[in-house]
Amino acid sequence: MQPIWWEEGKVVLIDQSKLPHRQENITCSTYQEVGDAIREMRVRGAPAIGVAAAFGFVLAAREYENLPAGLFSQKLRKVATFLSATRPTAVNLFWALRKMQMVVAEYIGDDPHIITNELEKAALKLAEEDRDNNRRIGELGLSLVCPNARILTHCNAGALATAGYGTALGVIRAAQGAGRLERVYVDETRPLLQGARLTAYELVKEGIPVTLITDNMAGYVLQQGMVDLVMVGADRIAANGDVANKIGTYSLAVLAWVNNIPFYVVAPTSSFDFQLATGAHIPIEEREAHEVTHFLGQSTAPAGVDVFNPSFDITQAEYITAIITEVGILAPPLKVGIEKLGEVVAGE
Ligand code: MRU
Repeated sequence: MQPIWWEEGKVVLIDQSKLPHRQENITCSTYQEVGDAIREMRVRGAPAIGVAAAFGFVLAAREYENLPAGLFSQKLRKVATFLSATRPTAVNLFWALRKMQMVVAEYIGDDPHIITNELEKAALKLAEEDRDNNRRIGELGLSLVCPNARILTHCNAGALATAGYGTALGVIRAAQGAGRLERVYVDETRPLLQGARLTAYELVKEGIPVTLITDNMAGYVLQQGMVDLVMVGADRIAANGDVANKIGTYSLAVLAWVNNIPFYVVAPTSSFDFQLATGAHIPIEEREAHEVTHFLGQSTAPAGVDVFNPSFDITQAEYITAIITEVGILAPPLKVGIEKLGEVVAGE
């Protein structure tokens, strides 16, 4: 399953807000449409957001490629600012836009048509590399999966959240392929139910055994010894190993810690923010109240009630057993491994 692709000069994406009831595609012809799709979470998941932004940037470049070079670059700077403002937490968005702007800088002085062609190639490569990285993550992560593994996951770190295959679900897919998976437990992930709507959808579709639980059942399930390990994705990883991921991840990590169950974060190097000292500096997106006061369009709370709706939380490095990336597995002290990883990435 692939949530986003480039087709005849347009961006096509699966409208994830409609899943699991309907699998419908949306075609975006402008960068504004891509920006709206990210903001409205029709495309979501850190790596997928990055890919969408890169494709959106190419749409803008095509729109402006007949302008004089100076004006073309100026317009693209504004486009990057617009796309950056869609969602604040997943660092892959800013990483992808930086990659696109580096292409513009590399070809500065060339005809905008040439730069646009290079941008299109770069965006396609970025998507391709994300899929390859996830396969590699799956292979590497397999070494941490015991026979007959029962794995708990949260939110959706699957094919839908990436350019394809998935991060945490990538390892789960690899474990299923290797005959090492007994069952996946998935938290429904309130308020937007990415676990129930998207992760369960991906797994059921592929015949991977999955049991859906509500978020508040996770503690009981871990305490009863029903789970061997927890695997989640990440939206941003700070230099000390603190991880921002979907709200509820922190509670799960503490519960895993208390119950002596390994807690793995699975993420590509594009999800690391090497310059950010700790998770305390990661901006946490707050979304609208109706996501909490309503369920499937139906109100579940008294009108006018105050609501707090943070979309992500921070799990401190001390609760994380290891981070699985496409270039290796980082074990504690995470800070040391991340510093070395930062040097590798900077040298590429
Ligand atoms: O708000 P979302 O659905 O974009 O949040 C997604 C998550 O928190 C995922 O776990 C994370 O992006 C990792 S995806 C490989």
